[in-house]
Amino acid sequence: MSRIVYINGEYVHQENAKVSIFDRGFLFADGVYEVTSVLKGKLIDFDGHILRLARSLKEMEMRLPCERDALLDIHRELISRNEIIDGLIYLQVTRGTPDDRDFVYPNPETTCPTLILFTQSKPDLLENPLAKSGLKVVSVPDQRWGRRDIKTVQLLYSSMSKMAARSMGCDDAWMVEDGKVTEGTSSNAYIIKGGKIITRNLSSRILHGITRATVLRFAREFEMSVEERPFTIAEAQEADEAFITSASSFVTPVIELDGQAIGDGQPGPIVKRLREIYLDESLKAAI
Ligand code: PDD
Repeated sequence: MSRIVYINGEYVHQENAKVSIFDRGFLFADGVYEVTSVLKGKLIDFDGHILRLARSLKEMEMRLPCERDALLDIHRELISRNEIIDGLIYLQVTRGTPDDRDFVYPNPETTCPTLILFTQSKPDLLENPLAKSGLKVVSVPDQRWGRRDIKTVQLLYSSMSKMAARSMGCDDAWMVEDGKVTEGTSSNAYIIKGGKIITRNLSSRILHGITRATVLRFAREFEMSVEERPFTIAEAQEADEAFITSASSFVTPVIELDGQAIGDGQPGPIVKRLREIYLDESLKAAI
């Protein structure tokens, strides 16, 4: 199926969307991105994603290529043109295309950022079988750079870690630094012990997940107890339940870590409840 994608002000068939070989995203991974989910044709947590995009760009000394309302229009136009019911919208901004390769940033007055967006239709986004069965996870050392709070497109180590997990017959990897879990390859990581939801506190060591922020807000509103602090793999293996959050997986249980079952090795009741709450409330707030 050929999609209609957005590139620098135009809607074109994907075959006709072209970026220069000198684009800074291609040569230096000098760009940031966002992934926003679409459920029933509406955007979930849209404003959170745009706020984080603005923050990532600021940290990279880049400007938002267009304002929130214009970005919302582009998202909606792509949903409509591609008839997306359930799926994802990927947005990427790079520092643009100077006319040569140079480590020094190009002058932003003369080099415009490259802005691209495309849709991914995912009919089973809500009914993903892994949300019912739960994920098997392995731990890997976190060898990414130190500014993981910036959502850059340099995802090679995350991709390698996911492949390492797959080669061991697992679904995903949790990364470990200084003996503590940072996050998943493309998600935030949580455990539940004695009814308390435990997840790493925000810092430059993890991405400030938009789903994380919403899930923790709902958890507190529904009077669940939350503790934001690092935890170890051993502590996770002793936990009652575990899960991940991301825009593409919402709230998804983790049932095994490094070959050891978590709890009774089945998705637990608190994670199921959190997923229900997140989806119900987010659908109500979708735009
Ligand atoms: N990844 N941590 C990392 C390293 C991530 O890549 C992601 C999201 C998250 C969760 O953030 P959010 O809840 O805002 O999606 C945490 C997206 C989904 C991706 O790369 O496809």
